[in-house]
Amino acid sequence: MDIQIFETAAEAAHKLSEILVLSIQKRPNLVLGLATGRTMDSVYHKFVSLAREAQLSCKDIKTFALDEYIGLSKNNIYSYEYYLNFRLYEQLDFNSKNTSIPNVFAEDLDLASYEYDQKIRSLGGIDLQILGIGLNGHIGLNEPGSAIDSRTRVVGLSSSTLKSNSSLHKKEVPNTAITMGIGTILEAKEIILLATGETKSEIIQKLVNGDVHSQNPSSAIKTHSNVKLILDKDAAKLI
Ligand code: GLP
Repeated sequence: MDIQIFETAAEAAHKLSEILVLSIQKRPNLVLGLATGRTMDSVYHKFVSLAREAQLSCKDIKTFALDEYIGLSKNNIYSYEYYLNFRLYEQLDFNSKNTSIPNVFAEDLDLASYEYDQKIRSLGGIDLQILGIGLNGHIGLNEPGSAIDSRTRVVGLSSSTLKSNSSLHKKEVPNTAITMGIGTILEAKEIILLATGETKSEIIQKLVNGDVHSQNPSSAIKTHSNVKLILDKDAAKLI
């Protein structure tokens, strides 16, 4: 695993934004897997300004969101679809035909999950998958216990995740979601995980120094041959 440590969270986010810009310049029709959450806020903010400066077109990029809460529509400010529309897609020239998120309003959610994986495959797979990390090691919403070969599916959220994400929600946090599976994530050609802040230092220590174990879903990325960890000093302080 390539580990890069930056002095501040802003510098770490800047690094990931630059990688995104370079990847899109190299490949304008990049297939991009996108994370949400607080850590990604500054990445998307920086990316938007760098992309504007560079007059980068995003119209041919295909995106796949990692996850979505069941029951939250794109008009709900707590949905990940709203998050990505507001922070990213509407800020640049993304084509809505090219942006995908699990269909959490499908009559058959299992079928919708299966079709999400099929859609990723039909576009040749994800070129670059960006990840954050939960305090309990979740990636996407693959909670501890998730199988390394799990596919996109309906999941229940752990109490730790509900607690952590409740600070973002004024109302109750939905307790189910559709998430890309760990197996789905591992099929990406390149994976970059960004973690910042001292609260992530314990789980980053377990990820870097521990074994691959289903109790720490993030550890699965250690089996991937092209993975980068971008950290700030606070998140890296125990490694
Ligand atoms: C959330 C998201 C993940 C995200 C993680 C960390 O539940 N589903 O995609 O990476 O948890 O979130 P944050 O960056 O807010 O700490």
